Amino acid sequence: MFPQSEVSTSPPTRRVKLAPSLLACDFTRLGEELTRIRDADWAHVDVMDGLFVPNISFGLPILSAARRASPLPMDVHLMIERPERYLRDFAEAGADSLTVHVEATPHIHRAVGMIRELGKRAGVTLNPGTPLEAVRPVLPDVDLVLVMSVNPGFGGQKFIPQSVERVRTLRRWLDELGSAAEVQVDGGVTAHNARLLADAGATVLVAGSSIFGPDGPEAGIARLREAVT
Ligand code: DX5
Ligand code: ZN
Repeated sequence: MFPQSEVSTSPPTRRVKLAPSLLACDFTRLGEELTRIRDADWAHVDVMDGLFVPNISFGLPILSAARRASPLPMDVHLMIERPERYLRDFAEAGADSLTVHVEATPHIHRAVGMIRELGKRAGVTLNPGTPLEAVRPVLPDVDLVLVMSVNPGFGGQKFIPQSVERVRTLRRWLDELGSAAEVQVDGGVTAHNARLLADAGATVLVAGSSIFGPDGPEAGIARLREAVT
């Protein structure tokens, strides 16, 4: 007889990666905050240009400072118009993955190709109001698909519940292609919805306010880990 755990019929759960969003950290202590999230998997870096989204966050100098302060892979989410103009600069500043919005360029296929040529993980993403079909043509060419579960631009917003089905559909499309691309979710992720997202096929969860909360990022990371284990 095998022990119960070995005869389980539930599908194998992929280990879910956690990517704290630096947007929610204390910028006066960037190095310290990066040390405190060392048990996470990636650091998520939100770049906003005030055009693609109605907010301006930070750019290349902050990414290169974060790169110097932490061994974590830098996961860069470009909320900027015509991201192809800056891909090389962000790669040189220390990005390990670069994710571009399908709404931000008429040449999404060229943009993801450029990211791969730079030797970085190529990600594509889309706003909650954009049909999933918009990213389908580039799925064979990406390493990551990010499902935005809030309208991009600000931290601390409420999770849009329809995002769960979008994760499930994308995972199915990727599986049909035989693609092992990551499915990432960003916006309003908490210990309450993390499990649901993982079960739908999410493999990377971004979280800002639910990690950099009043009880500190170590507790935030532990709570999310427990929720998906
Ligand atoms: C929103 C950003 C997110 C944001 C998430 O435009 O892309 O990464 O920081 O923040 P929370 O987890 O607070 O919703
Ligand atoms: Zn983000």
